[in-house]
Parts: sequence; C-alpha cells; structure tokens
Amino acid sequence: MRYKSQSVAYWYFAVAVALFGLQIVFGLLSATKYLGPDPLLYILPFDVTKVIHTNVLIVWVICGFMGATYWMVPDESRTELYSVKLAYIQLVLWVVMGVATVIGYLFRWGTGNKLLEQPLPSKLAIVVAMLIFLYNIGMTIRKSGRFTTPEGVLLGGLGLAAVLYLPALFEFHNYTVAIFYRWWTIHLWVEGVWEMIQGGFLAYLLIRLSGADREVMEKWLYVIVGLVFIAGILGTAHHYYWVGVPSYWLPIGGFFSALEPVALVGMAMYAYYAMRRSGMAHPNKLALHWTVGSAVYTLFGAGLLGLAHTFPSVNKWTHGTLITAMHGHAAFYGAYAMIVMAMISYALPSFTRRPEEGTSMGYLAFWMQLAGMFGMTLSFATAGIGQVYLERIMGMGYLDAQLKIQVHFVMLIITASIFAVGVALFIIDFFRYPLRLEVRTDDPVVPVAPARAATV
Ligand code: HEM
Ligand code: HEM
Ligand SMILES: [Fe+2]
Repeated sequence: MRYKSQSVAYWYFAVAVALFGLQIVFGLLSATKYLGPDPLLYILPFDVTKVIHTNVLIVWVICGFMGATYWMVPDESRTELYSVKLAYIQLVLWVVMGVATVIGYLFRWGTGNKLLEQPLPSKLAIVVAMLIFLYNIGMTIRKSGRFTTPEGVLLGGLGLAAVLYLPALFEFHNYTVAIFYRWWTIHLWVEGVWEMIQGGFLAYLLIRLSGADREVMEKWLYVIVGLVFIAGILGTAHHYYWVGVPSYWLPIGGFFSALEPVALVGMAMYAYYAMRRSGMAHPNKLALHWTVGSAVYTLFGAGLLGLAHTFPSVNKWTHGTLITAMHGHAAFYGAYAMIVMAMISYALPSFTRRPEEGTSMGYLAFWMQLAGMFGMTLSFATAGIGQVYLERIMGMGYLDAQLKIQVHFVMLIITASIFAVGVALFIIDFFRYPLRLEVRTDDPVVPVAPARAATV
C-alpha cells in the first residue's frame, strides 16, 4: 500500500470475510429446514435463522463497503486518512452492534420489519457509526483537496444510503404505511444508491486494473448513475402492487422498473470495454475476475431475473414466493458480495504476502462460488415455478405445495454446499498469508502503464 492508514481497511475486510462465513452457516441452516425434520425447531426456528442470515449479510457487506472506502479514498485523494483512531472506534462499534443484534435475535429481540429488524439501540449505533465514517472520509478529502469522480459517486452513494436509513428509525403501526416506507430504504438502497457505491468501486477498479483512460471512464459512470436514478426511483413502485396503496402504482411500477436493467447493461458493457482497451495488462487477474464477474452477474441476477417478475401481470403470481428468493440471491451476490470481494482481492497483495496474480485456491474459490450460486439460483427458480403453479394456480395449501417441491430443496442444498466450499476457500485464502502492513514504494498495486491504443 502507498499510505500507512490504508491498513485499517485490512481489519474491516477481515471482519467482513469472517461474517460472510457466519452468514453462510445460517443460510445452510435455513435451507435444511425446508427438508425437515427439524431438530432445532424450538431453539432456532426458520424465522430466526433467516433473519440472522439476511442481517449478517447486510452487516458484512456494509463493513466491506467501509473497508473498501478506507482503502480507495487515500489512493484517489493521495493522502493519509484524516483519523485512523476514529476508523478503529467505528469498526469496534460496528462489530459490537452486529454481534449484540445477532444475539438479540436468538432471544427474539427485533422489530419484525423484514431486513430492517434491528432493534432501536442497534439502529442508533448504526447511525453513529455511519456518521463517524462519513465525517472521517469527508475530512480526508477536504484535507487533500483532491476529489475524483469515482470518489464522488462512491461518497454520494454512501451519504444517501445513510439518509435513506432514517425512515427505518420510525415505527408505523399501520402495515400499509410501514411497508410503504420500508421500501424507501430497501429498494432505494439496492436499486439506487448502493448501485452508486458499486459503480464507484467498479470505476476505480477498472481504471486501476485496465489503465483505461480516466476521463472516458468517468463520463460513462455519469451516464450509468443517471440511468440508475431515472428508472430506480419510480421503480420503487414494483413493491407497491399488492400492499394496499392506490392502483395507479401498478403501471408506474411496471414501466419504470422494466427500464432498470438498462443501467445494468451499461455497467456490464463498461467493464467489458475497459478490458478490451487494456489488453488485461494488470498482473492481478484474480481481482479482474471478481470485477468483471460482478458487473456481468449483476446483469444476470438483478437485471434479467429482476425483470422476470417485475411486471404486475407476472408479479401477481410470483410475489413473495421462492421466485423472489431466486432473484434476491443472484442479485445481492452479483452486485454487492462480488464487488466487495473484488476490492478485497485487489488490495490483499498489499496487506499480505498473497502473490499479486492470485493463487489457485483463490481461483477455485471464485469458480466454486459462481457455479454454486448459479445452481442455487436455478434451484430456487425451479422450486418457485412449482410453488407458483401448485399454490397460486391450482390452489394447493402452502405446506402441501412445499412437500411436492422437495426435490428442488435437495438440489438447493447440494449446490449451496458447493457455494459454501467456495466461500470457505475464499476465507482461508484471505487469512493464510502473513501480514505485512507497511508502506512500499514498489507496491504493485499502483496504476498500470497507460492504456494501449483504444480498440473501441
Ligand atoms: C442489485 C440490484 C438488486 C438487488 C440486490 C435486489 C434484491 C432484491 C431482494 C433482496 C428482494 C426481496 C426483498 C423483500 O421481499 O424484502 C427483491 C425483490 C424484488 N426485486 Fe430486486 N434486486 C435488485 C434489482 C432489481 C431489479 C433491477 C428489478 C427489476 C427489473 C428487481 C425486481 C424486483 C421485484 C419485482 C421484487 C419483488 C418480488 C416480490 O414481489 O416478492 N430487482 N429484490
Ligand atoms: C450456502 C449459501 C446460502 C444458502 C443455503 C441460503 C439459503 C437461504 C434461504 C433458505 C433463505 C430463505 C428463503 C425464504 O424465505 O424462503 C434465504 C434468504 C435470503 N438469502 Fe440466502 N442463502 C445462501 C447464501 C446467500 C448469499 C451469498 C446471499 C447474498 C449475497 C444471500 C442472500 C439472501 C437474501 C437477500 C435472502 C432474503 C430473500 C427473500 O426474502 O426473498 N444468501 N437464503
Ligand atoms: Fe425493488
């Protein structure tokens, strides 16, 4: 690394990677419950394992975002962080909040508002940690006087993500009102401002890994962010079809959310053309796999599989079924888990003795996760199609339908096990090298030589 304070990012990544492992344990536990019998029914029922699975996901992904920001901002602004101490205080607060919240769930302490189940003290701790984080990053940039476009997009995304968490602090007793505002956080996060965060990291990685012309890349980034907002904001209405709000939301939701994949096509093309331009000059091919992989998998999981159930005429059958889980997994994994792993893979050779080009274990982790997640997506999809047909079209009861589709849950557990081995390999590959958190001028993690002549 080029700046001493970038080493804080390592500890954020270490926490994120460890929590990723914990998330998978609870995912596997949730999946096995579909098959039954469930010996843990009264200790750890499905609702508890699922809430821990999804909340730990959010905690580790945001922890990864924070670490990646602490890595990227000094690099882009060419300065040390404003305060290393604040960064560590923030990490401790984040970990304590995460662990306490998970323990709380074991004792059924939560608000029940899906994905925002955190009790109020945890929510307040999240707000404080976020404020410390934004202050530290803001002051770093201010002190340096250098503010690049990828940084701007990243910070815009992080700041807006914090603002959009505010509706989650309120409790609404009317279910329709509660769900109406819940999507301001959840939808506008994953289909709005988190895409800015992903876009910021993607631009940074592509510029560094491909050596493509910064100005061209930055112009594309503006176009992508513009497209995200044009479609994403009113696209929120694809969650308002059946929740008790006026019916004019149906055409609005169908039309605008169907436009959302356009930005994701833009993002995948962006990654592809950057690679074409550079001729893949950078030695860290493993980071390149994760970077391009994230852009392409987002197009598949969020773009294609989101579009598959976003029209009201389809969603009236599929709403809240395993079709939702199919899309939720592929989208979240492709967009946010993979971009965090891309940043980790890019920065890791600076923190440890991992070879710059990656290791066979690292590539195996990548391919096993990809194959496993693809298989899981197909398992959820086939189970979901069966569920929709039996339950919604034939009118079969929920539990009877679940029994009929059990074969797909066997397939889910097999493919999820492949995925889990991929995650375990990623974790081992992360921790197995000795640390060397010193500044090195010969660090290979620096911009590569100028791009070759453009081919596009
Ligand atoms: C990276 C981007 C995305 C992520 C991470 C994501 C993730 C998710 C998740 C986790 C859910 C379930 C939420 C819940 O029920 O609480 C969901 C629901 C949904 N998503 Fe996405 N999504 C993304 C992009 C998209 C896009 C681009 C579309 C449309 C083209 C879309 C369409 C939908 C629809 C229609 C639902 C509601 C499903 C239902 O009615 O049960 N999503 N998404
Ligand atoms: C071994 C791997 C995994 C297994 C076995 C697994 C299993 C499950 C199961 C059984 C559910 C509950 C679905 C339902 O409500 O019926 C679930 C929900 C969910 N999981 Fe996973 N999961 C795994 C990995 C992941 C990963 C890597 C991500 C994201 C990066 C993820 C994101 C989600 C999300 C967003 C939901 C909520 C979806 C919804 O409410 O529709 N999971 N998972
Ligand atoms: Fe949405």
